[in-house]
Amino acid sequence: MSLPPLPTSLKPFLKPYLPSNSNDNHITLTYAQSLDSRIALKRGLQTKISHLETKTMTHYIRSKHQAILVGINTVLVDDPKLNCRYNDEDNLNLNGIRPIIIDPSNKWNYDDSQLSKICEKGEGISPFILIDESITDPKNSNKLKEQGGKYISLPLLKNRKNNWEIIIKKLNELGINSIMIEGGSTIINEILEYPKKIYDVLIITIAPIFLGKEGVEVSPNKQIEFSNVNWWTGIQDSVMCCTPKE
Ligand SMILES: NC(=O)c1ccc[n+]([C@@H]2O[C@H](COP(=O)([O-])OP(=O)(O)OC[C@H]3O[C@@H](n4cnc5c(N)ncnc54)[C@H](OP(=O)(O)O)[C@@H]3O)[C@@H](O)[C@H]2O)c1
Repeated sequence: MSLPPLPTSLKPFLKPYLPSNSNDNHITLTYAQSLDSRIALKRGLQTKISHLETKTMTHYIRSKHQAILVGINTVLVDDPKLNCRYNDEDNLNLNGIRPIIIDPSNKWNYDDSQLSKICEKGEGISPFILIDESITDPKNSNKLKEQGGKYISLPLLKNRKNNWEIIIKKLNELGINSIMIEGGSTIINEILEYPKKIYDVLIITIAPIFLGKEGVEVSPNKQIEFSNVNWWTGIQDSVMCCTPKE
């Protein structure tokens, strides 16, 4: 499905929060939530939250980054395409966006995924899948190799609550400097409450809906304050951009 045009006011609104060069060291944490801070109706249920115009915005933001990072549960539940379908003269990343999947226990069958299918058609970039170093014999995916993706072994589980520096350092070594982190809730909560500042910018789309108590919640275990706060309002959703307070 093609995307509707990006509302013109969004480009100047987002500009101060996006990398000016896709090679900049820049981490954007972003997601869409309900009024009660839920990002899905239930665990295991794919949920449409944002309006189409903010969906276009997500693809516009992707066009400014080298990689998009998500957790394995998001991949298993949503089977996302993780590509960038926004293209105009402003696109900083003409090679497309590289999906990074954190899958420490190597659960994902890449060959069956929507992503592997769109990569076959040249409509996406094959992922780098981060697995724990204890997995010595990862699922053998010829497709992944043929398409240019790979497994990357890291000490994820030994450092389970303290491994974000390891992950970011490895991605930087691979030449990936601008990263858009899109979820799910485990990753977002962990990054928000992480003792060191991992992200530069937070962009939240807020939709006018309550998803209720069974919803998948984003709510870190501590108070967090922000600076440089700005709001944009569209047909249905509002978007908040800010930076974590130093
Ligand atoms: N509304 C939105 O914007 C949005 C965006 C994305 C996702 N979602 C929704 O979010 C839900 C999924 O969220 P979720 O919290 O269940 O899962 P998730 O955050 O997608 O994935 C969590 C899993 O990833 C692995 N992981 C994440 N960080 C890790 C780290 N630092 N080190 C090692 N392993 C790590 C762990 O896998 P193991 O359990 O294998 O150890 C962990 O349980 C889905 O319903 C999806 O639709 C919504």
